[in-house]
Amino acid sequence: MAAEGCIWRWGWGRRCLGRPGLPGPGPGPTTPLLLLLLLGPVAADITDGNSEHLKREHSLIKPYQGVGSSSMPLWDFQGSTILTSQYVRLTPDERSKEGSIWNHQPCFLKDWEMHVHFKVHGSGKKNLHGDGIALWYTRDRLVPGPVFGSKDNFHGLAIFLDTYPNDETTERVFPYISVMVNNGSLSYDHSKDGRWTELAGCTADFRNRDHDTFLAVRYSRGRLTVMTDLEDKNEWKNCIDITGVRLPTGYYFGASAGTGDLSDNHDIISMKLFQLMVEHTPEEENIDWTKIEPSVNFLKSPKDNVDDPTGNFRGGPLTGWRVFLLLLCALLGIIVCAVVGAVVFQKRQDRNKRFY
Ligand SMILES: *[C@@H]1O[C@H](CO)[C@@H](O)[C@H](O)[C@H]1NC(C)=O
Repeated sequence: MAAEGCIWRWGWGRRCLGRPGLPGPGPGPTTPLLLLLLLGPVAADITDGNSEHLKREHSLIKPYQGVGSSSMPLWDFQGSTILTSQYVRLTPDERSKEGSIWNHQPCFLKDWEMHVHFKVHGSGKKNLHGDGIALWYTRDRLVPGPVFGSKDNFHGLAIFLDTYPNDETTERVFPYISVMVNNGSLSYDHSKDGRWTELAGCTADFRNRDHDTFLAVRYSRGRLTVMTDLEDKNEWKNCIDITGVRLPTGYYFGASAGTGDLSDNHDIISMKLFQLMVEHTPEEENIDWTKIEPSVNFLKSPKDNVDDPTGNFRGGPLTGWRVFLLLLCALLGIIVCAVVGAVVFQKRQDRNKRFY
């Protein structure tokens, strides 16, 4: 735990250092405000779903008119996807299925928020179900592949709702939500549950719930926020909140799912896209946003994602080493804190002495 904490803190430190001077549509004159937002407690100021800002052309809403129709298509689907009056089923609870649904029109909004009403359910008992859903904002669409039913080496943003831990050595609790940004160069490693390439993530118990489950993704001014509403309390809970994410406009929204040896029903009930009313500086406005290369200003180096510094993932006899290193890191942390604390205390004592 201590090691995790210190990696996280380093991460923030580096992320903060990397922020000023970033070119392009980074934080503009509102940096203090942005900083305040970042430093403050997790802001749950997600849009209230103001229907004025709902973009119908990028939304999938019951009754699913214009889905898969040839004349005026809003959404196209592919693979095992079936449409009912109540939901879009990306995969049934059967082995080796993959399906996807993709918005027909590219999205040219700079600041947006997507609310996804979804349901993952099946007869599989604990850890005998899979694989999960991926939500996409990508350059290419409707291309089947190995990443939750969609193509690998994608360009853009992916949010994975992963229900099955492929990596047996992981300490992570599943289901797990993670995000990945890719410029086509990275490959998603299923056997490691994408650990090498994930930017951030959280555990989220969304499978086989009796009530409705929701997820929200917000992208604005380089800040990417993912929130969940899984407890039937009608409130958003923070899952992911990172900055320095650069995504172009003109990509497509989509959702896909895949099953392997293990399966689940992966259903999308709705996807609602809202435009966020955000002001941009003239410099930001002058950039051709369609030309932006998907990137993250601060990318955790892959080694931060590795449990085992020797590079061997197999666990087994090395597990002891891992525990040892974690303990060592924790111990070093405590020693550093103790020394700093002692020095500060000493200084204060000295100062006090001078007063008396
Ligand atoms: C794509 O990303 C990788 C690292 O993630 C980087 O090394 C490479 O330069 C990027 N390519 C482009 C064209 O930006």
